[in-house]
Amino acid sequence: MKYYIETYGCQMNVSDSELITTILDKAGHSEAEDLDQAELIIFNTCSVRQHAEDRVLGRISCERARKTVNSRLKIAVVGCMAQRMGKSLIEKGIGVDLVVGVDQYLKLPDMIAELEDSAIVEQDSKQVYDDLVPKHHDPHCAFVTIMRGCDNFCSYCIVPHVRGRERSRDYREIEYEVEQAISSGKYDITLLGQNVNSYQYEGVSFPMLLDRLSGLNKQYRLRFITSHPKDLSDELIEVMARNPKISKHIHLPMQSGDSEILERMNRKYDYSHYKALVDKLRRAMPEIAITTDLIAGFPGETESQFENTLKAISEIRFDYAFCFKYSNREGTDAAEYDNQVSEDIRLHRLQRMIDLQRQITLEKFQDKIGTEIEVYVEALSRKSNEQVSGKTDDYKIAVLSGDVALIGSFVKAQVIAATAGTLICE
Ligand code: SAH
Ligand code: SF4
Ligand code: F3S
Repeated sequence: MKYYIETYGCQMNVSDSELITTILDKAGHSEAEDLDQAELIIFNTCSVRQHAEDRVLGRISCERARKTVNSRLKIAVVGCMAQRMGKSLIEKGIGVDLVVGVDQYLKLPDMIAELEDSAIVEQDSKQVYDDLVPKHHDPHCAFVTIMRGCDNFCSYCIVPHVRGRERSRDYREIEYEVEQAISSGKYDITLLGQNVNSYQYEGVSFPMLLDRLSGLNKQYRLRFITSHPKDLSDELIEVMARNPKISKHIHLPMQSGDSEILERMNRKYDYSHYKALVDKLRRAMPEIAITTDLIAGFPGETESQFENTLKAISEIRFDYAFCFKYSNREGTDAAEYDNQVSEDIRLHRLQRMIDLQRQITLEKFQDKIGTEIEVYVEALSRKSNEQVSGKTDDYKIAVLSGDVALIGSFVKAQVIAATAGTLICE
């Protein structure tokens, strides 16, 4: 069968889609070049916010129309929404034929062979898909899953409910996958987990794993997402600081700058702990870029608690922040909290947060003007054939003059101007 995968949500889903590609190709199926060629459309879905689910439901009802032209066409839903909603996705009568949960991808080939409407969503707390190397699609970057699931149960978050308990992959499997990716020409390796800091496999901790992975005799960059502030150790900071292969960038979700809200989010740290971590990181690596996630309008958030988040944004000055409007997820603790903040206020606070951070991001990018940076060139710039674009070690996008010959190499460049998303270099 020719299949086409459409992926939503976080990098974990991007990585899982690559895993599904490997599983299906091994079973003799092949990827369709586009939707028109597909006999099976697979939606790999996200449940983190209501909006993410609504988008996919909209996409499914749109693509369902293809069934009137191509009666053999099947639609599968996999990923977090499949896990959360299970068989009800088929029963809704929106054209879904197969539903496969996040721990059951090895069953996909059998389900396709039977071609009967079915759903398999049992959680399997041991499943780590060992012995399978995902087919990394991007020519330059590879996302390598080092652990699955989450045990933290932040009160707003659906992820632990759909992804199940935390489990780490064998470090030897991870090493093999990273070596394969690097020898096939990838330069940017991102290790993935909901909380990479709690990686643990037969006595190998996350800092130890990073150390092992940064010893290959090639030029490459090693990054990781996501770090939970409650588990970020001094040892990790030390390994990052001394190791030139580890990117000087950390994504450290703060969620809120108010300690009472953080407690009700069940984040297990307060603002002063978070601020102390940022100071420690910057002391050890003055050039480090720090990015974060923030939620506006958590249940019960007062105006002054929200303002504490704005104050924290101004005090810390993140390089970038992903800002989200709180979304109520059925089954999470926060969904039951009193004093849900009205939609209008959530939206208004979100906008204030975005505006403040945008100004800081611009200033952070402008701070780089006049400095020399190293850019890994990935592609021709979208705007001009005489410009190329790539990424800096601290994960910023840079454009510089040059042609295709530079693609795939590390180039030293001088920053001459900046916008709130791009460094313009010579
Ligand atoms: N494991 C990672 C990422 C989890 S999901 C972590 O702990 O950081 C990515 C981001 O989505 C979270 O950091 C959070 O900011 C946001 N998010 C999760 N649930 C949400 C909800 N119910 N409403 C709004 N944003 C949410
Ligand atoms: Fe969700 Fe918290 Fe786990 Fe991240 S650490 S996935 S926010 S429960
Ligand atoms: Fe990722 Fe969304 Fe699932 S953020 S883990 S795809 S709920």
